[in-house]
Amino acid sequence: MCRILASYALAALLLAVVWADHNPYHSSKHSHEGEMAWHTLSPHNAVFGITLYKHLNAEAAGDNIFYSPLGISTALSVLSAGARGDTHTQLFSSLGYSTLNQTQVNEAYAYAFHMLNHSQDNQQLEVGNSVVVGTGFNPLPDFLNSIRQYYMGEVFNVDFENTSEAQELIRQHIATKSHGKLQDLVMDLDPQISMVLINWVYFKGQWERPFNKNLTTKGQFYVAENASVEVDMMKKTGLFDYYYDHVNHATVILLPYKGNTSMMIVLPDEGKMVALEDSINKNSIRDWHKSSFKNNINLSMPKFSISAEASLDEALKEMGITDAFGEEADFCGISEEVELRVSRVSHQAVLSVDETGTEAAAATTIEMVPLSLPSDVIVNRPFMVFIMELSTGSIVFMGKISNPTPL
Ligand SMILES: *[C@@H]1O[C@H](CO)[C@@H](O)[C@H](O)[C@H]1NC(C)=O
Ligand SMILES: *[C@@H]1O[C@H](CO)[C@@H](O)[C@H](O)[C@H]1NC(C)=O
Ligand SMILES: *[C@@H]1O[C@H](CO)[C@@H](O)[C@H](O)[C@H]1NC(C)=O
Ligand SMILES: *[C@@H]1O[C@H](CO)[C@@H](O)[C@H](O)[C@H]1NC(C)=O
Ligand SMILES: *[C@@H]1O[C@H](CO)[C@@H](O)[C@H](O)[C@H]1NC(C)=O
Ligand SMILES: *[C@@H]1O[C@H](CO)[C@@H](O)[C@H](O)[C@H]1NC(C)=O
Ligand SMILES: *[C@@H]1O[C@H](CO)[C@@H](O)[C@H](O)[C@H]1NC(C)=O
Repeated sequence: MCRILASYALAALLLAVVWADHNPYHSSKHSHEGEMAWHTLSPHNAVFGITLYKHLNAEAAGDNIFYSPLGISTALSVLSAGARGDTHTQLFSSLGYSTLNQTQVNEAYAYAFHMLNHSQDNQQLEVGNSVVVGTGFNPLPDFLNSIRQYYMGEVFNVDFENTSEAQELIRQHIATKSHGKLQDLVMDLDPQISMVLINWVYFKGQWERPFNKNLTTKGQFYVAENASVEVDMMKKTGLFDYYYDHVNHATVILLPYKGNTSMMIVLPDEGKMVALEDSINKNSIRDWHKSSFKNNINLSMPKFSISAEASLDEALKEMGITDAFGEEADFCGISEEVELRVSRVSHQAVLSVDETGTEAAAATTIEMVPLSLPSDVIVNRPFMVFIMELSTGSIVFMGKISNPTPL
């Protein structure tokens, strides 16, 4: 039994960062079991990511939503590595991992990180985890070893009683891992805290075919029927993977980055966002992807930079992860001496999209277009966005852009 001392708090902080660009990976040596387990687990991650969207959207329907499904699933898997009993069962069941055991899940992530770790020039997709351990708290070596071995985890110590110092240390760590994109993460740390788990995802991708900056002009984005904001509209005419979904009344367009990552924009017809959000499921994304075909498109889409922050506590509880937050929490896999529970789960993500996708790069592209006139796709009203990594089948980021101008 690991019920000894009074309750301490465990905060899991999840965070994610985006920039538009990408990075490719080559598989070399990895465990075959891990690869098999990843293929079992990855569709469940998609289901989890979309279910989470519905909960977050119910909390904040008119706001921008942006988060990393991959990052959140990873962070909860790290937490599961230390959970036991019903706490573990609830985590696994909400994540959709019920047919797997923790070892298989660990190996699956080790495989995915291995796949994601091999970057090429101009492309970056970085995922990692950190465990910040408070002075005087000694997690079980097995737990820390699992995090290091399977989740590319780093472990460091901090004195949480010196709150300002602890906050600054964590802020700096996150700023470094996010390449400066998340500078000012505000954390209101409880001095009682024993440990913080951090997951970070950083992505920087260059469009396979960049937009021409000279064609960017001011345009209107209709945040609501009669309300618009001024944005910089980027323009590009060419062949895009495109699909019009007649059931959901939505236009789907794929914008590939260099490497194995693509952005998928899903633009519902006017007034159809809510219907789309109700019907979307993991098959929608796969079906849109499969059904798309090359079409000559005259695309206008906003250049934007947004930041979204969410507390995930309520959403996760609604999704069945309840024990982890309460008196019943069982994290005997982290410590047998100190009883732990989760006090808070927060997530912050930023997304910047511009003509290059990222910093300067020289590219020569020769585009061939058919003779028929291009169809117009004008992304000038709220749309959904997905950033997908194709070699691991992961939704790295997803969200809804309701207003592309910073609030
Ligand atoms: C996990 O499942 C695998 C495959 O079924 C099995 O070989 C392994 O012994 C299990 N591990 C644990 C710790 O139960
Ligand atoms: C990731 O890549 C770095 C540098 O290429 C290497 O040092 C590290 O061992 C790799 N990690 C994994 C888990 O493959
Ligand atoms: C907290 O940490 C800061 C920075 O390391 C240090 O200057 C300060 O004296 C510490 N405060 C306490 C109460 O230990
Ligand atoms: C954009 O305009 C500048 C100045 O008119 C010109 O030098 C440059 O070649 C143009 N770039 C492209 C990609 O057309
Ligand atoms: C938008 O404006 C039109 C014309 O002024 C009006 O009929 C309509 O009710 C307005 N819609 C909303 C949602 O305010
Ligand atoms: C593409 O759309 C823009 C804006 O609607 C328009 O100015 C331009 O002429 C169109 N280009 C083509 C080739 O249709
Ligand atoms: C992209 O993913 C596919 C499918 O897994 C793989 O065959 C290919 O080698 C990957 N390409 C790169 C550049 O990593």
